[in-house]
Amino acid sequence: MCGIVGFTGNKQAAPILLDGLAKLEYRGYDSAGIAVRDGDSEVEIIKAMGKLKVLQEMTDGGNAVKGTCGIGHTRWATHGEPNETNAHPHYSDDGNIVGVHNGIIENYQELRAKLTKKGYSFYSTTDTEVAIKLIDYYYKKYLGTPIDALNHALVRIRGSYALAIMFEQYPGEIYVARKDSPMIIGVSDGETYLASDVPAILKYTRNVYYIGNLELAKLSKGEVTFYNLDGEEIEKELKTIEWDAEAAEKGGYEHFMLKEIHEQPKVIRDTINSVLKDGIVSVEDFGLSDDDIKSLRKVYIVACGSAYHVGMAAQYVIEQLSSLDVRVELASEFRYRKMTLDKESLVIVISQSGETADSLAALRMAKEKGIKTLGIVNVVGSSIAREADNVFYTLAGPEISVATTKAYGTQLVAAYLLALEFARARDEITAEKYAGLIAEINTIPEKIEKILEDKERIQWFSSKLIGVKDAFFIGRGIDYAISLEGSLKMKEISYIHSEAYAAGELKHGPISLIEDGTIVFSVVTQQDLYEKTVSNMVEVKSRGAHLFGLTSYGNYAMEDVADFTVYIPKIDPLFAGSLAVVPLQLMGYYVSVSKGFDVDKPRNLAKSVTVE
Ligand code: AGP
Repeated sequence: MCGIVGFTGNKQAAPILLDGLAKLEYRGYDSAGIAVRDGDSEVEIIKAMGKLKVLQEMTDGGNAVKGTCGIGHTRWATHGEPNETNAHPHYSDDGNIVGVHNGIIENYQELRAKLTKKGYSFYSTTDTEVAIKLIDYYYKKYLGTPIDALNHALVRIRGSYALAIMFEQYPGEIYVARKDSPMIIGVSDGETYLASDVPAILKYTRNVYYIGNLELAKLSKGEVTFYNLDGEEIEKELKTIEWDAEAAEKGGYEHFMLKEIHEQPKVIRDTINSVLKDGIVSVEDFGLSDDDIKSLRKVYIVACGSAYHVGMAAQYVIEQLSSLDVRVELASEFRYRKMTLDKESLVIVISQSGETADSLAALRMAKEKGIKTLGIVNVVGSSIAREADNVFYTLAGPEISVATTKAYGTQLVAAYLLALEFARARDEITAEKYAGLIAEINTIPEKIEKILEDKERIQWFSSKLIGVKDAFFIGRGIDYAISLEGSLKMKEISYIHSEAYAAGELKHGPISLIEDGTIVFSVVTQQDLYEKTVSNMVEVKSRGAHLFGLTSYGNYAMEDVADFTVYIPKIDPLFAGSLAVVPLQLMGYYVSVSKGFDVDKPRNLAKSVTVE
């Protein structure tokens, strides 16, 4: 996620801004910039690609930039490639307005078109520049205050924002607005600070205001005035932060992994909204026309690790919704096989980092064979994103924990949306069913929220697993794909030997391993396969297994078989994997914490495996 900071007071702003941005580096970024103003002089804007060190060197640690009022930004690209032009701060052409933004303006293309018609031009490909120029447009149109201009602009913006803006006619002041993206405002004697997150201001003050959603504020030296979207002043209570710096970076969560598990509802919502226009998935960004999709005979999904598990789930969804033949391949295998790829096919490479060596090599192999490629990638501008013919960006934001959770969740949803689009373009789904399934997908965030409310039960059960040496995960169909991911989570962060099997496969060998106390996690969300998987559960139970059942509310008979049952909200079975995986993510997390392991940095693992 991007990071924003701001300061106005009696000290030099630049060193404070750079220090604050350094405390937000954990949020991930590819470029950074500051804008500083000395009294009513012109704003000085400095921005650079790469790490903060570049900006620090350019400004001699901020000492070369004079001024006591300024804003700063670290950019995690969502719209527009990572480069200096797209780096924040962004500004109106006459320099009258300069601002930084964290969030996603969903309707920025529509707004950009309207502003272009009104004579505006654009130097970047970002949504933020559009927002800044929209504010500028209303500021000039109504000749009101900055708050008036912000109000006129914000009611026309769809999406999320934490905005910090400086207006030429208002030296020493910073105007902010917030919707869904985080922002905190700190005050101390004669100084006012703003930031995306507590760590950036903690060393200066613990006295803070939490600006609410759809609220605005005027920051001056040591003073803050809050407004609602109607421009009416509102009172806010000053709070005191109790956190220490380390806890603050994780937003109060003990580990990044737990924070990222909890970010899933929001980032899945963002990913859905990024391609859904009036209820239809707009795939023009993916370079796939309806005719292209109609002519497809085969889809290959290629990835590693958890991304591969997304592919395993996606194949069932694509096959159930369309006549497309789907093959899921491990990238590390695919790249070395002598395969005759069907010319009328699409290779989808799924990768959070976009830098996984095996996945990148597989992509290049497909391109060499003249096969159309599509990346489902989280990091904007990464190698796979750049080299694939087209890319569907997941909007999970930077994922710090090595064990993926929110990126996996957004990849899964991206796969559903593509599957629906394939079916629609091939006339293999009715408009009514399409709309119904889109509506189901839109319920995923709130249903994950509901699961997270019940996490203490999972934490309690996890504490019983500390001594477990071997675990099995079983399921059929999509439940098998989820079992793969649940098993990997258990393996990679709690170091318990764990295997996932298609439940029907147990009798072909693995069941010989079941003995008294063996723990078996059964994922049973696919109603049409429910009875069959339950019978597998009975088989292993009769051989001494300790059973954990994961199923949908309503299947209460599960408790007659399983020793411990976790329920997930009802949802179309096609999308149940998005819900079922959350208790398994939490399970792996809590077992690892109970065993005292380094959850976010498990032994032997790297966040992105850029070597073979
Ligand atoms: C999952 O928790 C692991 N971190 C790992 O399996 C990961 O999914 C795999 O290395 C692929 O990484 P990518 O998505 O960045 O390509």
